[in-house]
Amino acid sequence: MRSALRRVLPCAHWLPGQNMRYTPHTRFDNNSTLTLHSMNEAETKFTIERIESIQRRTLSLACFRTTRHADFRFTPGHYARLGLGHDSDVVWRPYSIASAANSGHLEFQITLVPGGAFSELFAKAEIGDTIRVDRRCFGFLTLDQLASGGSLWLLATGTGLAPFLSIIADAATWARHTRVILVHSVRHAAELMPDAIDTAVSHLPESERQRLSVISIVTRESAPDALGARLGILIQSGALEKKAGLCLDPSGSRVMLCGNPEMIREVRQLLKDRGFAAGRRGTPGQFSAEGYWQR
Ligand SMILES: Cc1cc2nc3c(=O)[nH]c(=O)nc-3n(C[C@H](O)[C@H](O)[C@H](O)COP(=O)(O)OP(=O)(O)OC[C@H]3O[C@@H](n4cnc5c(N)ncnc54)[C@H](O)[C@@H]3O)c2cc1C
Ligand SMILES: NC(=O)c1ccc[n+]([C@@H]2O[C@H](COP(=O)([O-])OP(=O)(O)OC[C@H]3O[C@@H](n4cnc5c(N)ncnc54)[C@H](OP(=O)(O)O)[C@@H]3O)[C@@H](O)[C@H]2O)c1
Repeated sequence: MRSALRRVLPCAHWLPGQNMRYTPHTRFDNNSTLTLHSMNEAETKFTIERIESIQRRTLSLACFRTTRHADFRFTPGHYARLGLGHDSDVVWRPYSIASAANSGHLEFQITLVPGGAFSELFAKAEIGDTIRVDRRCFGFLTLDQLASGGSLWLLATGTGLAPFLSIIADAATWARHTRVILVHSVRHAAELMPDAIDTAVSHLPESERQRLSVISIVTRESAPDALGARLGILIQSGALEKKAGLCLDPSGSRVMLCGNPEMIREVRQLLKDRGFAAGRRGTPGQFSAEGYWQR
């Protein structure tokens, strides 16, 4: 079965801007998940899940939860490809998985982009609607891309927070790293998600929760306790390290970047200037990054 799948679907990393459309012929079993009776090509690629909850946090930001197929496996930091739309015209996009690897559901965060094909379909979605989930998951924003040890800095803009929620919920993160500094940059305070961060670590022992520092950045209004400038500026000025009470250096720090590709380009350069190296050909490095769209 696995080799048959490989022949049909050579494993590929999803690149921003590559969007796929499938023409599925779907069947449902009792819990609304696609069953593999005839196993035609489309059916081997995805399952059909159900949207269980939608939390519309602002006009352009939502969190949602779906059912999870029993066979769906992922590593914290991975993204899934989701499909919305009618059978003949499904729009597929990648979304980072925000839920814990051992959760019975899948959780996602979505920025609704005006005029975006998936965004417009999602804006009309309701609880109980179906959503396609590619059986495979992807990505390099996983702990095994980084050398273990030291402090783990997780730097996110917007919904780039999502994979980091899954990572901080994972016991392996706390076994590998002494401290975790989660930095979330948003335009407006309403886009911060302290509740989602609290929920992600709520099952961890107190001793591990104390090793997490959360730093909020709000760039387009003033907000209590939040820094007020872009990540690159805060790194250059030393304000981010001051707030964390830790040095951002390659000997004692590992960094993951996720979200706005301009932020990633700028911060990646700053890290390289400080001597940080990305992982290469299976050799773990000191930073890794995932941009959500093409610059
Ligand atoms: C690996 C990967 C993981 C991703 N994970 C997430 C995620 O967890 N949550 C999420 O909201 N998006 C995520 N995205 C982006 C997502 O796949 C879609 O591109 C986005 O939801 C817009 O889709 P669309 O069809 O509505 O608009 P499109 O026509 O595909 O996009 C239109 C434009 O909107 C802008 N844009 C796209 N995504 C975002 C975004 N997230 N924030 C701000 N501006 C954006 C870009 O300028 C893009 O060119 C991810 C992308 C990649 C490559
Ligand atoms: N957030 C909203 O209120 C809003 C409203 C309507 C529509 N939208 C749609 O959503 C899309 C994305 O909005 P978003 O707010 O999720 O994502 P975003 O534009 O990437 O902004 C998220 C955070 O990233 C910061 N940022 C942007 N570029 C950066 C860089 N080069 N270096 C460091 N930090 C950087 C932003 O700071 P800055 O504030 O300095 O840019 C902000 O703090 C928009 O393009 C729009 O289509 C959003």
